[in-house]
Amino acid sequence: MKFSADTVYQIYPRSFKDSNGDGIGDIRGIIDKLDYIASLGVRYIWSTPFFVSPQRDNGYDIADYKKIDPTFGTMADFDELIKRANEKGLKIMLDMVLCHTSSAHEWFQKAINGDEHFQRYYIFRDGRAAGEPPTNWQCAFGGSAWEWQPQVGKWYLHLHDVSQPDLDWTNPEVRKEMADVVKFWREKGVMGFRFDVINLISKPEVFEDDTKGLGRKLFADGPHVHEYLRELVKNAGIDGMITVGEMASTNLENCIRYSNPDNHELSMSFSFHHLKVDYKDGDKWALMDADIPALKKLFEDWQVGMSEGGGWNALFWCNHDQPRAVSRFGDDEKFHAESAKMLAATIHLMRGTPYIYQGEELGMTNAKFTSINQYRDVESLNYYKILRDSGKTDAEAIKILGERSRDNSRTPMQWNAEKFAGFSTAEAWISSPDNFKRINVEMEERDENSVLAFYKMLVKFRKENPIVQDGDISFIERENPAVIAYRRTLGNETLIVICNFKGVETSLQEKSFDEYAAEGYKKIIGNYAEISKELRPFEVVVLQK
Ligand code: GLC
Ligand code: CA
Repeated sequence: MKFSADTVYQIYPRSFKDSNGDGIGDIRGIIDKLDYIASLGVRYIWSTPFFVSPQRDNGYDIADYKKIDPTFGTMADFDELIKRANEKGLKIMLDMVLCHTSSAHEWFQKAINGDEHFQRYYIFRDGRAAGEPPTNWQCAFGGSAWEWQPQVGKWYLHLHDVSQPDLDWTNPEVRKEMADVVKFWREKGVMGFRFDVINLISKPEVFEDDTKGLGRKLFADGPHVHEYLRELVKNAGIDGMITVGEMASTNLENCIRYSNPDNHELSMSFSFHHLKVDYKDGDKWALMDADIPALKKLFEDWQVGMSEGGGWNALFWCNHDQPRAVSRFGDDEKFHAESAKMLAATIHLMRGTPYIYQGEELGMTNAKFTSINQYRDVESLNYYKILRDSGKTDAEAIKILGERSRDNSRTPMQWNAEKFAGFSTAEAWISSPDNFKRINVEMEERDENSVLAFYKMLVKFRKENPIVQDGDISFIERENPAVIAYRRTLGNETLIVICNFKGVETSLQEKSFDEYAAEGYKKIIGNYAEISKELRPFEVVVLQK
């Protein structure tokens, strides 16, 4: 498969490296660190948005799609980034936010000032009664998805923040504008794209209340989404490039359609079901331990299902919206390196294209904030208020944010143990957890057994082994509640990947290590030295025959 040998590195520019001492990461900071990124062995860099934006949602609220926000640099910096990255064999992927604009975008400003042409770019509707929004849909960051617009005398739809009005993709002009944006960046030398919440672009034909939920199910994977994607890909001229869609509340059937090359839509998709196994009753803001059997079942369904349908998965634990995996599924104190390595191996040896989110390769942890004043994210600030209003104490709300806030992944990249973690010469826009003194690039690079070294080994192993790229996959130890394990096969070769998701010793149920050895299997990768009879806490063992 295309892109099966590649790994993508995700950068959140605001938190990656600050080059000019204003406490905010920037494009020149990325340029300064290209050698580091190249040393990981990855082929692509996906950067989240740095276009002109009021930054209400850190750049996912775009006011001008074709200009660089001065906070992050200039177009000349961007051109240099592409050039220098290409020289090192790295290709740049950009993040396209085409479902909504910022309310500061010229189109929306014209719309609210009475220009009917631009009112048709957005979704304005009458309420169902005076003072009542058209439907009960809720936006992703809490509260109604509708906002009253007094100048127009209608409500507008925003599935995210109120400053992110949704575009009306039934309008062919909107679709043309969006294809034009993608084409613009392709012509500048961008080699791939990540499409933000792209499965929300086609709204339902009839707008009605969601009687079972918050609306998500009604507007995800809408009636024309596949057709719009094909048109976008064709008109932007990006068929065959690496493209990944962020698919909110999606399902397997749609993801097969999005990513099967025969459909000329995208090359792969992000789905999120595996990152909801610790949501109590599906509620992100209600804490629960991760349900490992559920996680295992989801991996199996998606790995096997996508394979059978000819689809292709993006493999990931972390991104700028998720808490850090090592804090969430591992033990970021007692078994920090062991659990970070085990989690890496779990997904890097699966069928798909792995993504590494900046700092994940060091085992960077959650932010460990203790006060609401340390939080920056619009969603976290909204939900802190919602949680407090629902009766939670400050301590309870802070505990929940400590596990669920998107700011957990947005703390500065930990480059060294010096002041400000080597991220900047000034106080950063968001603070770092104290552990930067022991978890940082400089120290990881000096240790041949580090988490970083393990990530590099996995990236290289994929590149060099067709079985990881294109082998079949099937799951084993399916009844074992603590273990996620699978088998990859290609020709006569077999790989067995066994991961203990618990911080205690665990036994294999189907076959012991002795039995594997008797069949001729040898251990080739692991996070503990010798093999033992039992699986140790967060142990991963990869066997080969
Ligand atoms: C996606 C982005 C997220 C953003 C949202 C709205 O989920 O990853 O960061 O807030 O879309 O654009
Ligand atoms: Ca800066």
